[in-house]
Amino acid sequence: MRIGIIGAGRVGSTLARRLAGIGHEVTIANSRGPETLKDLVSQINGPIRAVTAQEAARFGQLVVVAIPYGRINELPIAELRDKVVVDACNYFPERDGHDPDLDEDRTTSSEKLRALTGADLVKAFNAIHWQNLRDRGRPKGDPARLAIPLSGDDEEAKAVVAGLIRGLGFDPVDAGYLGRGGRRHQPDTTAFTAELSAAELDALVHAAV
Ligand SMILES: NC(=O)c1ccc[n+]([C@@H]2O[C@H](COP(=O)([O-])OP(=O)(O)OC[C@H]3O[C@@H](n4cnc5c(N)ncnc54)[C@H](OP(=O)(O)O)[C@@H]3O)[C@@H](O)[C@H]2O)c1
Repeated sequence: MRIGIIGAGRVGSTLARRLAGIGHEVTIANSRGPETLKDLVSQINGPIRAVTAQEAARFGQLVVVAIPYGRINELPIAELRDKVVVDACNYFPERDGHDPDLDEDRTTSSEKLRALTGADLVKAFNAIHWQNLRDRGRPKGDPARLAIPLSGDDEEAKAVVAGLIRGLGFDPVDAGYLGRGGRRHQPDTTAFTAELSAAELDALVHAAV
């Protein structure tokens, strides 16, 4: 699959390395320009190119956004419209600045990103620590295989993202719709960065309010 990744830090670069490693065609972008990603790209085995954020959004059949939530207004909005976008971002007010809508739980960071972009949003990869994403993928059936929660309103888009999660060696756990489900695996929930099997995580997210 053609995957554009916006954000080339711990999460974005880890996903790029792992996804290109299993043969996906990947483009990756940061805020400073593709020339600053030469070293990263040269260290990755597989089909990957450094591009601008606009190009990553245009290129991807699926686009991953892995940037600090406080910078979402810098995203290439027009290019993301109607795309399947995976939101790996989290809202941390001390890093991102306070957003009263989020502080008062009137909405969620993912719903805000969807409203901003008009994308078909799936929240995923936000609740796994980047080092686990890098190191803890395991074959299906391995008792040590970890689960990754995802949420979204479009079942087809969620199925595509669930397939990616499986391909990386994790079990997807559907937490539900973007609003209610996303609230089950955002920061300050027990599911956030939990290291659990699919059965354990499924019980946890569906026990949560
Ligand atoms: N760290 C984790 O374990 C973890 C796990 C799950 C989810 N998350 C969430 O995922 C997001 C990224 O986390 P991270 O730890 O990977 O952060 P990070 O290491 O600080 O990297 C952030 C990346 O975002 C890029 N960026 C910022 N603004 C951008 C823009 N407007 N356009 C394109 N790229 C932009 C930065 O590029 P420049 O350097 O060029 O500015 C940098 O490559 C955050 O929302 C975080 O909360 C983190």
